[in-house]
Amino acid sequence: GDNVLYLAHKHEIDLEGACEASLACSTCHVYVNEKFLDKLPDPDEREEDMLDMAPLLQENSRLGCQII
Ligand code: FES
Repeated sequence: GDNVLYLAHKHEIDLEGACEASLACSTCHVYVNEKFLDKLPDPDEREEDMLDMAPLLQENSRLGCQII
């Protein structure tokens, strides 16, 4: 689908996605620009759980494969 991970790869942006969007890794960790942060639905519990394992977690951290 057209999630941020997919779009990054399409535009040859080097973003990892070890589990291929199955919410089993945090390698697709991204920081969302503040301008867009409140336009996104809140991350669900499974995304939050994986995010907790991401290094350098920030207020605007999300998993790229979960942003549609
Ligand atoms: Fe693994 Fe996004 S690619 S959670």
